[in-house]
Amino acid sequence: MDKFRITGRETLSGELPVSGSKNSALPALAACLLTEEPVILHRVPRVKDIGTMLKLLEHNGAIVEWLEDGSLRIEAKKIVNPEAPYEIVKTMRASSLVLGPLAARTGVARVSVPGGCSIGARPINLHINGLEHLGATVQQEHGYIEATAPDGLLGNTVHFERITVTGTEDLMMAAALARGKTVLENAAREPEVVDLAELLTKMGARIQGAGSSRIEIEGVERLRGAEHTIIADRIEAGTLVIAGVITNSEVTVTGCVPEHFAALISKLRRAGARVEESATAVRTTPVTRLRSVDVTTEEHPGFATDLQAQFLALMTVATGISFITENIFENRFMHVPELARMGANIRIEGRQAIVAGPSSLTGAQVMCSDLRASASLVLAALVARGESILDRVYHVDRGYERIEDKLRQAGARIERID
Ligand code: EPZ
Repeated sequence: MDKFRITGRETLSGELPVSGSKNSALPALAACLLTEEPVILHRVPRVKDIGTMLKLLEHNGAIVEWLEDGSLRIEAKKIVNPEAPYEIVKTMRASSLVLGPLAARTGVARVSVPGGCSIGARPINLHINGLEHLGATVQQEHGYIEATAPDGLLGNTVHFERITVTGTEDLMMAAALARGKTVLENAAREPEVVDLAELLTKMGARIQGAGSSRIEIEGVERLRGAEHTIIADRIEAGTLVIAGVITNSEVTVTGCVPEHFAALISKLRRAGARVEESATAVRTTPVTRLRSVDVTTEEHPGFATDLQAQFLALMTVATGISFITENIFENRFMHVPELARMGANIRIEGRQAIVAGPSSLTGAQVMCSDLRASASLVLAALVARGESILDRVYHVDRGYERIEDKLRQAGARIERID
């Protein structure tokens, strides 16, 4: 099992390039099931979760091809297997994104119920309720959800009792082929939802309001192929900006959309970091010290839960007490005990982590537990004195494209060891 060896206290310099967004590419890949024509996707990151989704699409009957220029060609001419099997879903819960497309395209979808996940229960009841509102009959047995709509889906109003990102994406894709008009109320406003709506529109869907909490979809008979470039990964971009700040370096994070992680940028400035932004890049420059600030995670455009662990790592070296409140998931502080092994001073009380800084972190052997907790450990190791060994970095590989190469090119002492 791969590990990272990181020796801290190096300053970084130069550029940190951002890849395409994993959380935009995943629904975009599921959308390819909605048409029998080929779809070309550019800037799909080569990360493990994408590989898992491609395996799932092939299982459904799609032809998947990486082209020379690095883009992806997906052709779902025929759906031979409208299901997401247990052995795939158990490794990636985002497999539930095929539920809506398969039900809409074939009238049948069988998806293994996603099991528990380390950061929380993460049920998909809102996806299921939404499909039932569009006329599907949904049953659950033997660990599988089966949605059937033999006469096709019918447009309707779907009110999400709780904001759900992939729930919004799932239902937007299903509604694109439903008969009549669908209104999604209390929809997620994430940039990845907007990116998916843009792809679906290129495929012939009629969607208004993506990016707001009310999305209207006028169903169409069929969708055609399209070509689309995936937006930059705002979570990777935010992680790399924090890498520049935590190592007190002058770095430029390039190929990103600063607007998509504005909440993080404003929190970093409140903490005293010097962060400048252009249309496609963010530059950090050294400062004398950082002040602690409080953060509460919220749905977009609030502070992203996917950046909570990374920001908490930064607060361990800021002066003062910071209250980090995690409102989206029940158990997203698994990075805390590992950071404590490096000398961080953090107390957890329910949904809140209370961080007292600055601590002078020292390198240690630590364990990655989930994707963003792992990123938090990488950031702490970059500033810790001495050597850290990070175990189970396959968690990092799920959502970051060769992050160790990017960091090493900017001057970090980081290497992958097996
Ligand atoms: C997406 O997950 C992201 N994944 C997550 O990123 C991200 O943390 C999350 O949104 C929140 O921003 C992808 O886009 C592939 P939710 P998703 O449905 O859609 C509850 C990463 O690190 N809920 O918005 O699964 C749920 O339990 C990953 O890249 C229900 O109760 O998240 C959670 O508490 C981690 N019932 C809250 O809503 C449902 O049917 C928000 O979940 C659906 C969700």
